[in-house]
Amino acid sequence: MSADKIDGKAAAAALRERIASAVSHFKEQVGRAPGLHVVLVGDDPASAVYVGSKEKATEAAGMVGKVHRYPAGVTEAEILHLIDRMNRDATVDGILVQLPLPDHIDSAHVLDRIDPAKDVDGFHVINAGKLAVGESALVPCTPYGCIHLLKERLGDLSGKHAVVIGRSNIVGKPMAQLLLQENATVTIAHSRTADLPALARQADILVAAVGRPEMIKGDWVKPGATVIDVGINRLRPSEEGGRGKLVGDVAYDEAAEHAAAITPVPGGVGPMTIAMLLANTLRAANAREG
Ligand code: GUN
Repeated sequence: MSADKIDGKAAAAALRERIASAVSHFKEQVGRAPGLHVVLVGDDPASAVYVGSKEKATEAAGMVGKVHRYPAGVTEAEILHLIDRMNRDATVDGILVQLPLPDHIDSAHVLDRIDPAKDVDGFHVINAGKLAVGESALVPCTPYGCIHLLKERLGDLSGKHAVVIGRSNIVGKPMAQLLLQENATVTIAHSRTADLPALARQADILVAAVGRPEMIKGDWVKPGATVIDVGINRLRPSEEGGRGKLVGDVAYDEAAEHAAAITPVPGGVGPMTIAMLLANTLRAANAREG
């Protein structure tokens, strides 16, 4: 058996088109475009690429995108001052602080300074808490995109056993909360979980978010499962392929022999993350103007 490839690129493109037309409507009604402001600190090359993609997609959807760039030596006070200004600025609907921040800056302190109504990453403790108790919240973009792909593929998730490997605040925990909201039975696994392969083999829905290249092997996948691979790992040029190939947390070719459907890396979850960021920005803008 060879699994269907879940095309995140196509799903994201369709969603972005829908968002762009909703943005036109917003502009007609409100007289301005939704605004997304991104804070980028330091010169991490991966962060620069991610932020560049976010900026391009924001403008392509007809929104105003602005990037605030700071050198790695910027003080926490300066970043907090910028956030205070953006919180007060009526033309700013969404605020995103690209992570990681340099070690001398307290990330939680910075993220929790963002107005929760403008927190389009869904990382503010208020939004995390609302998600946990089932209240309406801005939801982290990557798990939100995963749920979108799962519902598109499977329809009703109710009663399915989902195993989420990874317990980060950015992916694993919110992913588990969203699956619970869809009435799935959810197990969160992590590096200390005993006999992870046996647990993974029980999953109708297997979500891998561990950040370890190709850790999940083919025989960890239950026949007919749906596999969502959140990992984006660049192999060292010496490891394989010679050019720093991108791989997920799942050994794709092996897993595809067992799964019914699987997301590729690249072209699976990645494109959905940016589409959901645009969706969150539009939602925040509508909520603020509503
Ligand atoms: N760094 C890696 N992924 C993310 C993300 O989804 N949001 C932010 N703000 N920073 C990140």
